[in-house]
Amino acid sequence: MMESPFKEDVLKGKVALLTGGGSGIGFEIATQFGKHGASIAIMGRRRQALDAAVSSLASLGTPAIGFEGDVRKLEDARRVVESTFQHYGQIDILVNAAAGNFLASAEDLSPNGFRTVMDIDSVGTFTMCHEALKYLKKGGPERKQSSGGLILNISATLHYTASWYQIHVSAAKAAVDATTRNLALEWGTDYDIRVNGIAPGPIGDTPGMSKLAPEEITSKAKDYMPLYKLGEKWDIAMAAVYLASDAGKYVNGSTLPVDGGLWLSRPRH
Ligand code: HXC
Repeated sequence: MMESPFKEDVLKGKVALLTGGGSGIGFEIATQFGKHGASIAIMGRRRQALDAAVSSLASLGTPAIGFEGDVRKLEDARRVVESTFQHYGQIDILVNAAAGNFLASAEDLSPNGFRTVMDIDSVGTFTMCHEALKYLKKGGPERKQSSGGLILNISATLHYTASWYQIHVSAAKAAVDATTRNLALEWGTDYDIRVNGIAPGPIGDTPGMSKLAPEEITSKAKDYMPLYKLGEKWDIAMAAVYLASDAGKYVNGSTLPVDGGLWLSRPRH
């Protein structure tokens, strides 16, 4: 893992709540936010994963707490956001990294399978944003800071074109991107909240990759996608640190692809 090029205090004094923060990309963002000065709350469905993540963060000297919860449940979302505020006294950053995924052809996918991923990725993201709003909004009774907070939605590039056996995820991430833009407009205007996204390409050592792209597929990918190169979780976390820091203060409503240019890739002819 490379050293961070950012100063270690760029997120000093910030409190970040991350869904899906117990593993994969969410956990790496939590780790790097902590290394850059933030205090961390993570929300996830699996107690064991949360406990392991919290002790790993604590061993780096990062204040961290884990809350069990499912973003599909409004009462969980509300409880976790409130508990985070009670624990730290403020919330500055919400990262929506929780996602559901599996490969299924459109023909074989049940409407409930489609809905399940929409519920986790799209509705879950909106629900978390909605519950966190009062803590993020500038001028609200729950916010003493002189600026509004930040929302970061983890998306994908699948829906820029079309992706085999990912109709549910493509639809869900398209909705996430629309949510990013619409909240950026409404809450950027009214409450000084920046709402941005990151669209990762294939990232090594993540639940997504091990589930979606077996080795035999990725080893052939370079033939038809010349820009195919596996990214690291670190790459996504560095984009998140940039967007969350003051360096990103003029960025609002954007979803930044971090994929080595892969989605543009065409075979050489
Ligand atoms: C077909 C499936 C299925 C599968 C679930 N379903 N898994 N259909 N193939 N493999 C269908 C079920 O049949 C059911 O529909 C409906 O979905 C709900 O299933 P449940 O098992 O009841 O749901 P649940 O236990 O809540 O689990 C949902 C889940 C989730 C989506 C499988 O647990 C999950 O994905 N967890 C893994 C998290 C993960 O991998 N995160 C990384 C995401 S990576 P019926 O009709 O039968 O009731 C990512 C990257 C994207 O997002 C971009 C990559 C490049």
